[in-house]
Amino acid sequence: MTTATHNIHNTHKQAVKKWKETMAQAAKEYILDPVHHVMGQGKALINRLCDDLEPWQIVVYTGSATATVIFLKQFLFHDDETLSFRAKREFFKWVKRIPMVRKKIEAEMGKATKAVAESMNQSVEGSYLHTLPLQGLQEAELMEVLGRYKKMTNNTWKKGMVSGTVYSGDDKLTELMAKTYGMFAWANPLHPDVFPDVRKMEAEVVRMCCSMFNGDEETCGAVTSGGTESIMLALLAYRNMARDRGIKIPEIIVPVTVHAAFDKGASYFHMKITHIPVDEKTRMVDIAAMKRAISRKTCVLVASAPQFPHGIIDPVQEVAKLGEKYGIPVHVDCCLGGFLLPFMDKAGFPLKPFDFRVPGVTSISADTHKYGFAPKGSSVIMYRNKELRSRQFFVQPDWTGGIYASPTFAGSRAGAIIAACWATMMHFGEEGYVDSTRRIVSTARYISSKLKAVEGIFVFGEPEVSVVGIGSDDFNVFRLFDALVEKGWNLNSLQFPSSLHLCVTLPVTQPGVADSFVKDVVESVAVIMKDPKAECGGAGAIYGMAQSIPDRSLVNEIARAFLDACYITENPSVANGAATNGTVGNGDVAKA
Ligand SMILES: Cc1ncc(COP(=O)(O)O)c(C=O)c1O
Repeated sequence: MTTATHNIHNTHKQAVKKWKETMAQAAKEYILDPVHHVMGQGKALINRLCDDLEPWQIVVYTGSATATVIFLKQFLFHDDETLSFRAKREFFKWVKRIPMVRKKIEAEMGKATKAVAESMNQSVEGSYLHTLPLQGLQEAELMEVLGRYKKMTNNTWKKGMVSGTVYSGDDKLTELMAKTYGMFAWANPLHPDVFPDVRKMEAEVVRMCCSMFNGDEETCGAVTSGGTESIMLALLAYRNMARDRGIKIPEIIVPVTVHAAFDKGASYFHMKITHIPVDEKTRMVDIAAMKRAISRKTCVLVASAPQFPHGIIDPVQEVAKLGEKYGIPVHVDCCLGGFLLPFMDKAGFPLKPFDFRVPGVTSISADTHKYGFAPKGSSVIMYRNKELRSRQFFVQPDWTGGIYASPTFAGSRAGAIIAACWATMMHFGEEGYVDSTRRIVSTARYISSKLKAVEGIFVFGEPEVSVVGIGSDDFNVFRLFDALVEKGWNLNSLQFPSSLHLCVTLPVTQPGVADSFVKDVVESVAVIMKDPKAECGGAGAIYGMAQSIPDRSLVNEIARAFLDACYITENPSVANGAATNGTVGNGDVAKA
């Protein structure tokens, strides 16, 4: 090293040393000293505050403060329910503790619960069975008893007067299903080695559906027990994917009009659900609002095709674009439209793409047991690829009963329903479904066009498929609902906003049914419009009131009372103390 280089090196070292000293001095002066000062003051303050306290008091106060902080943290940052929702719930919880309020609520709830139970019993003939018959019944006797049970259902759906519910009801199809059911009554796809027939049928049902929705060889899926299960499995898959990315409470973003199965899934799987408003006029989801709701925790965006309340198809392509842009999966709920939309083009009602043709769509639910006309208890969930599907599978490799693997929620499944579903799809074929789609969609559009011309009511949006939603700006629309019930119609009443709908099925397409519905609506509206501001009575009043109760937990309780009432086996006379214990001996079955 030369002398010059040596000098430069020394000067540099001294400069660094000086800089370090200056920085240390600055840190002491501007950071450490003030911190020490504040800490000293804090300590002195705490000591002063605790001066008069005994040690036990310090411990108790500290514990209470910690508990309060934990409570507040959980209340404020509990992720799967919004703050306003929880604040409202807590508020009503406290209000309901006021003795006067509690007494009044209990009295009203008691009345409501009794009314629900009574209405459930109204349509029941005969006393309830409480125990097994001593000896089994022979076929003739059994058929006679079954016949009596069957008579409890009045068959208004056969006349096409029921919204949705029974999508075909054709006698020949019933026979075909019954025959198929008989052939595969014992089959269980949990054992593909024992029942390769049903395994093949399930795989083919899924494959046929994937083709209907323009999937490719990667597209896959599973047969489930219904729309709700298909939807919940998709949510489970997306939740599992998000959890793998370290998100504890993943978020689902749905239009406010989406089916309640999504709320059910969110509740079951401990996910947060955000409901996005829809455009007032078109009833389609507000894309800008959906975009604003997206966060790091969003695990799926949802579009309905179409939605249940007013039969409107959400802008699937725009939702899918958002999904692609932010790398979020997109589920299309095609449960209701699953066997209409894929055939609309061929039936002469062209639609924008809504299926796997749309990049960004990652899963689709489609119900075979609605417009697929298969027996109740079947639907299909489809995914763009196997990687997604595998997230819904359940595997327990360590079970003492052997390695357990199952694709859906159920363990054992009804092979006969899968077989009957397969048989129905094969029986209809593409031409059959194009024909049913043509009949259903043209009937719905006919009804919609006629109702649009009726003064006093309006049709929600531009329904393209099978549901026609009706509202009114002039009168309480539940009065129309009541009037149509009087005339024998069984429609769906909807809330937020008050409305009703008719879901057109094959029975509704029978000659004369659509015209008679339109005629009944026209006549009823004409009567109502004579005094549009009149009070709404009957069932309509209940629906109206249910929407206006701010404490939703009360509505929740009444709904639970309804579910309880579904399991009532008390004969009305039991309440009067006059009945037996319900035990029925042989030959005595439910004859009362
Ligand atoms: C759009 C939509 N999604 C999901 C479902 C749920 O189907 P399921 O009743 O078979 O569970 C329905 C039922 O009407 C629906 O209309």
